[in-house]
Amino acid sequence: MNDNVSTTALDADWWRQAAVYQIYPRSFADSNGDGMGDIAGVTSRIGYLSDLGIDAVWLSPFYPSALADGGYDVDDYRNVDPRLGTLDDFDAMVGAAHAANIKVIADVVPNHSSNRHEWFKAALAAAPGSPERARYHFFDGQGENGELPPSDWPSHFGGPAWTRVTEAAGENAGKPGQWYLHLFASEQPDLNWDNPEVREDFHTTLRFWADRGVDGFRVDVAHALVKDMTLPLRSKPTLEIKVDDGTDALFDRDEVHEIYAGWRSVLNEYDPPRTAVAEAWVPFTHRRLRYARPTGLGQAFNFDLLQAPFDATAFRDIVTRCLAEAEASGASSTWVFSNHDVIRHPSRYSLPDGTDGAGQDAWLLSGGREPAGDPARGLRRARAATLFMLSLPGSAYLYQGEELGLFEAADLPAESLQDPTWFRTGNKIKGRDGCRVPLPWNASEANFGFGGSPWLPQPEWFAGHAVSAQDGAPDSTLELYRSALAWRRTLQSAESLEWVSEPDATLAHYRRPNGWTVLTNFGTAPAELPAGVDASKIVVASGTAAGPTTMVPGETTLWIAP
Ligand code: GLC
Repeated sequence: MNDNVSTTALDADWWRQAAVYQIYPRSFADSNGDGMGDIAGVTSRIGYLSDLGIDAVWLSPFYPSALADGGYDVDDYRNVDPRLGTLDDFDAMVGAAHAANIKVIADVVPNHSSNRHEWFKAALAAAPGSPERARYHFFDGQGENGELPPSDWPSHFGGPAWTRVTEAAGENAGKPGQWYLHLFASEQPDLNWDNPEVREDFHTTLRFWADRGVDGFRVDVAHALVKDMTLPLRSKPTLEIKVDDGTDALFDRDEVHEIYAGWRSVLNEYDPPRTAVAEAWVPFTHRRLRYARPTGLGQAFNFDLLQAPFDATAFRDIVTRCLAEAEASGASSTWVFSNHDVIRHPSRYSLPDGTDGAGQDAWLLSGGREPAGDPARGLRRARAATLFMLSLPGSAYLYQGEELGLFEAADLPAESLQDPTWFRTGNKIKGRDGCRVPLPWNASEANFGFGGSPWLPQPEWFAGHAVSAQDGAPDSTLELYRSALAWRRTLQSAESLEWVSEPDATLAHYRRPNGWTVLTNFGTAPAELPAGVDASKIVVASGTAAGPTTMVPGETTLWIAP
C-alpha cells in the first residue's frame, strides 16, 4: 500500500490548473521486452515526466483485458493486467510518481465490463430472468422467434448494439435466446446501473484504488450509464444526442447524476478528496457542466478547442464561454487537443481547412494521402495552439507523444490494425490505432528504445521525433513543452483572463494578477506586436521570427513576461 499521499489544504485544489499527461500504458515504455508497454516502464520514465514539468499522469486502463477495445474492455476492475505487471508494480509506480510530486489518475470504465468479466460469464451461464442476468441488459428479441434485436440502436463502433446469445440454462438451453446490449463492441456488455449491486461494486473499486494512493479518476463515457429501458424500447437509429433536457433514451439522463453524487461521497472520504473528470461527449455545454459540479465528479472534459478550426474568433468564443460556464459550475475548465481517441493534432491541422470528421476518416483510410496535408503547417499550428492552451486558466490535458510533435501514423499496414471500429465497420473506418503507436525514446536503439518489438509498428520517421533527437535541441517541440510547462507555473494565477483587443488574426490576452501577455497570430502573415508589448520579454515562442522581433510570425504563439 502507498501512504505517500500529501494532505495539505492547498493540495486539495491541485487539479484546478494542473497539466495532466495521459499515458496509454501499452504504448509508453516496455520494461520487459515483450513489445507491450507496462507499469514498470512508466516507473522507469518518472524522471522524464518530472523534467517535462507535468503535475499529474492519467493512465488509460491497465486492467486485465483481452484488448478487444485497447483495454476499455475490463475483465477485473481491481487488478493489473499480468502483461503490464502486478499490483506491487502499480504501488511502486505510484510511490515513484508521488516522490516526484506527480499525481496519479486512474481510468474507470463503468458503462460496460468486458465479456470475460466474471459477472458476464455468470450471466451467460444463467437463465433469462436470473439475478446474474440483471447486472446487464438482457432482453428478448423482436420478431416471431425473437430473431430481431430488441431495438434499432447502433453501436459506437459500427453494427448493431445488440448481440444474441445461445442459452446455456433454462427451458431454451442450447438454442438462440436473449440479446444483450453493448453500446460499443460486442465484447463490452453494458452494465445495468439500476442494479444496486453494480453501484456498490464501483464504490468498492473507487476505494480500492484510492486506498492505494490514486489521486483521481477519469470516468469513461460518463454520460451513458443510465438508460431508459422501459418497454417498448424507444427507436433511436443514430447515437446523436438531440435533446438537452435529459430525456434522451441512452445518454445524459438526469438520473446519472445520482450515481455521481454517490461517487462524490466516496471520493470525499479521502484527504485530500479524490478528483474525478468526466468523459461526457454531451453537445450542450450547460448539460456537460452538470458532471463538473463540486457535488458531482468535479470536472468534465471539454473537447471544444479540439473540434474547432484554427481560427482566432472561434478560439476566443470558446474560451470566453467555457471560462464563464466553469465559473458558474464551480469547476475549473479543461482543455485538450489530443488523446487516444482522435487524430493527433499536428496531423489534423495539416489537413486543408474545413476538413470535417468524415474527411478525416477518409484521409486515414487513404493512408494519409488524400487530401494531401501540409505537415510543416500542421506542426506549426499545433505548437501555436498548444502554447495558447497552456496559457489558459484551468487544467490542460496532454497526450503522450504530443510533446514530441508526433503526427498520426496514418499508413499503418491493414494487418496490424486493432481498433474494433476497423472490424465492425467492415474496414470502412480505420479507427484510432494511428495515435497509439509506441513512443520513440531513442533514435539509435532497436524499436527506438521503446522495448521489445512493438505491438503496433513504428514508422521510420519516428526516429526524427525521438526524445534523443530533441533533448537539448532549442527549437524542438520537446524543449518547447518543457519550457512552457516550467514557465506555466509562474504564469498561472487567478482562473480568469482579460482579452487585450478585439480579435482579428491575432489574439492577445493578459493573465491577472501576474500580468503575463500571450499573443497568438492565427494568420499566415507576420503581425506587428501590439503597442506596449516589450519584445525583449518574450520567454516562450512556438516559432521563431525570421525578421525583426517586433513582429509575431504567422501561426505562432508568444508568451511575454510581465
Ligand atoms: C471512451 C474511451 C474510448 C473507448 C470507449 C469505450 O470513449 O476513451 O477509447 O473506446 O470509451 O470504452
